[in-house]
Amino acid sequence: MTELTTFWHLWVSAIVIGSMIACGILLTLTLKGQKYNEETDQTTGHSFDGIDELDNPMPKWWLWFFWSTIIFGVLYIGVYGIGGWTGFSDWSSHGQWEREMAKAEEKYQPYYDKLNTMSVEELATDKDALATGQRLFASNCAVCHGSTATGALGFPNLTDSDWLYGGSSDAIKQTITNGRTGIMPVGGLGGEKTASERSDIAAHVLSLSGRVGAGDAAKGKALFASSCAACHGGDGKGNQLMGAPNLTDNIWLYGGSEKQIEFTIQHGRGGVMPAWNEILGEDKIHVLSGYVYSLSQNQ
Ligand code: HEC
Ligand code: HEC
Repeated sequence: MTELTTFWHLWVSAIVIGSMIACGILLTLTLKGQKYNEETDQTTGHSFDGIDELDNPMPKWWLWFFWSTIIFGVLYIGVYGIGGWTGFSDWSSHGQWEREMAKAEEKYQPYYDKLNTMSVEELATDKDALATGQRLFASNCAVCHGSTATGALGFPNLTDSDWLYGGSSDAIKQTITNGRTGIMPVGGLGGEKTASERSDIAAHVLSLSGRVGAGDAAKGKALFASSCAACHGGDGKGNQLMGAPNLTDNIWLYGGSEKQIEFTIQHGRGGVMPAWNEILGEDKIHVLSGYVYSLSQNQ
């Protein structure tokens, strides 16, 4: 919640109160200068194209309308305040929000306290906890992972047993709490690769899942050993400590066609899973971990 600085408080107050006072003065002066109280056919002397301007007072209803807006403004400021002052009612949307949050917390805390006594594995089989977890997932995670958690290009499927960072309850909780950043450098170790090198490496990567590419897979294998194996492993099975995907299982985060693999080698990748610690807090992350853990258990 950002608060206005004192300067802007004063700025807003000065403009509002200033215009109200100016409006009031203007109305009073207009009334004072009024020569006639009744409608007359006296003219101001202005005449244009045969049309004369009558010198009549402002209509009463119009005057009262002005005064009532000023009175309304004064009452409104009295009740809700202005600038840094919260008015006689001491109501503010910020205050109301805080009271409602405190009320909700009081109401739900015992529920979360109960769930906190259960392990992630136990939560994954508890109907209530799963229903809560699913709601949390729908409102926080589905935008990226999909409402069924099956993911999309660049966003991992959470319902299979293929994990970038590990599918143990601890690993899942760690991922949600602190977030993850996958870093696939351009060209792997040793930097950029030429087009033919990329094609050779891609041929080797394709061979890991039983396919054949256009490049020279034998040459690619040597390049893979020097540029890629440090992260993806000599056998290409990946490394969950750095989120380097298994390249042998034909499950792809960024697509497994020859073109897409060459694109990954050429441009690198940097998928970011945001950290939820500050946003959701430990209690909700615990319940969410149970829900995510449950998704891959029925395989
Ligand atoms: C802004 C998009 C985004 C949102 C929102 C998001 N995620 Fe993710 N998540 C990702 C990306 C991208 C990755 C893969 C990171 C990578 O490429 O290294 C990921 C990875 C994960 C993983 C690791 C999967 C694996 O295979 O190890 C888990 C678990 C996960 N997210 C759970 C969640 C949960 C639970 C939420 C809701 C609290 C959530 N995510 C919200 C983008 C998102
Ligand atoms: C520094 C570690 C590192 C090196 C070296 C590295 N990678 Fe990666 N690679 C990763 C990480 C981490 C990801 C996942 C990126 C993400 O989550 O956004 C990845 C992703 C990929 C993907 C996408 C996989 C998918 O499921 O879509 C391919 C293909 C790939 N790497 C191939 C290679 C090749 C080929 C080399 C060697 C030229 C290489 N990588 C070198 C860490 C590395």
